[in-house]
Amino acid sequence: MPSEITNYIQENKSRFIDELLNLLRIPSISADVAYKPEILRAADYIAQKLREAGADNVALCETPGNPIVYGEKIVDPNLPTVLMYGHYDVQPADPLELWTSPPFEPVIKDDKIYARGACDDKGQLYMHIKAFELMMQQNTLACNIKFMIEGEEEVGSNHLGYFVTQNRDKLQADVIVISDTGMIANDIPSITTGLRGLSYHEVEVTGPSRDLHSGLYGGAVANPINILCKMIASLHDENNHITIPGFYDNVEELSAEERAEMAKAPFSLDEYKQALNLGDLHGEAGYSTNERNSIRPTLDVNGIWGGYTGEGAKTVIASKAFAKISMRLVPHQSSEEITEKFQKHFASIAPPSVKVVVRPHHGGEPVVTPSNSVAFQAASRAFEQTFGKKPIPVRSGGSIPIVAMFKSELGLDSVLMGFGLDSDAIHSPNEHYGVFNFLKGIETLPYFFRNFAEMSREGAE
Ligand code: BES
Ligand code: MN
Ligand code: MN
Repeated sequence: MPSEITNYIQENKSRFIDELLNLLRIPSISADVAYKPEILRAADYIAQKLREAGADNVALCETPGNPIVYGEKIVDPNLPTVLMYGHYDVQPADPLELWTSPPFEPVIKDDKIYARGACDDKGQLYMHIKAFELMMQQNTLACNIKFMIEGEEEVGSNHLGYFVTQNRDKLQADVIVISDTGMIANDIPSITTGLRGLSYHEVEVTGPSRDLHSGLYGGAVANPINILCKMIASLHDENNHITIPGFYDNVEELSAEERAEMAKAPFSLDEYKQALNLGDLHGEAGYSTNERNSIRPTLDVNGIWGGYTGEGAKTVIASKAFAKISMRLVPHQSSEEITEKFQKHFASIAPPSVKVVVRPHHGGEPVVTPSNSVAFQAASRAFEQTFGKKPIPVRSGGSIPIVAMFKSELGLDSVLMGFGLDSDAIHSPNEHYGVFNFLKGIETLPYFFRNFAEMSREGAE
């Protein structure tokens, strides 16, 4: 049914998309300092677009890392305030050769926008700026709005915590809204109600003090690569449970009812396997695929290297072997505690023939967001209004560590209104975002603002 909202989107959609493509052309990769000028260009671009849309007090807030873009529109101090969070930094694009078109030269194919950051998170954050423009143009902004868009999410949001604690008053709001997650399918809307935490480490195993001829020394000394593989293999048992002592101590166990509720979400094992070209799935005994990738903690090797990997053969025993190992955490696990347990355990399983160093990287706490709050109900109703179907609450397996920090530092809950799909290939080659999803987000957000204002008022009466 055409409405003022859909009319505005129809009339302006090609401009909305063009503006997003311009943002996607900026390679704002936070992991590599060589891209710092691009980070600044992306921040400037967003600030400019916020101003054009009608935001006040737009500024790049400097941090020792990348700037945070702030902007606001205070319509009336008596109205509820929504704090929008997003991130303009993106993951590195490699391996480049696997992209069918260059990652920072966006193209639209089959109604999907292909570029690094298309879904995570530029496409999704830009929906908020355009929804804001729409509400300003139509004079329908029913809540105050504050924007906080950072440039270090993909590297652990190192400076956002300090910014938030230093700006508690400025950031005062009733709820945080984030579009940086996904939904089940374009015809099965869902709202994310939980995110996993993270404990991430780099491990280094040292054997002999120098690389050795594997004929002269092979068999007589520890090969750090062999040892590292064995150590890693021992971190799971035959049921794919993680063997670190105390790892499951605080893990939240869902009730039978909650698990039954989860199992109702539409899901096809066959399609899942087919989409990933897998002969079979793999995971913790006693849990379904959807449980394994959301409400259960995991341990994965993200990278492993050492020794000779060049062309041809070199007979060598390397002095060192390395791996990056991460654990996804679920409610009531603490990133700090798990980090300590991992470090201790990993050192304890090393044989005396090698030395082990564990270097922790960034971590983050898991969160569950309320699904009975006014803000959640407002979001749920908004999805229903634009998708024609009530959204299903789902716990996601991904991590946005600052969501837990927003709760602890600002006392604010978040509503995770994500419009991406698992198949959007975020962090992978050929990342994309559906034009449908981009426009549907722009359409749904104004309903959320209207509902939130109305429902807050009703609640107060
Ligand atoms: N937007 C993602 C997280 C996400 C994606 C959550 C899809 C749920 C569904 C975010 O940008 C991200 O990639 N987070 C990282 C952690 C971060 C500390 C680098 C992650 O989950 O690996
Ligand atoms: Mn993201
Ligand atoms: Mn990401």
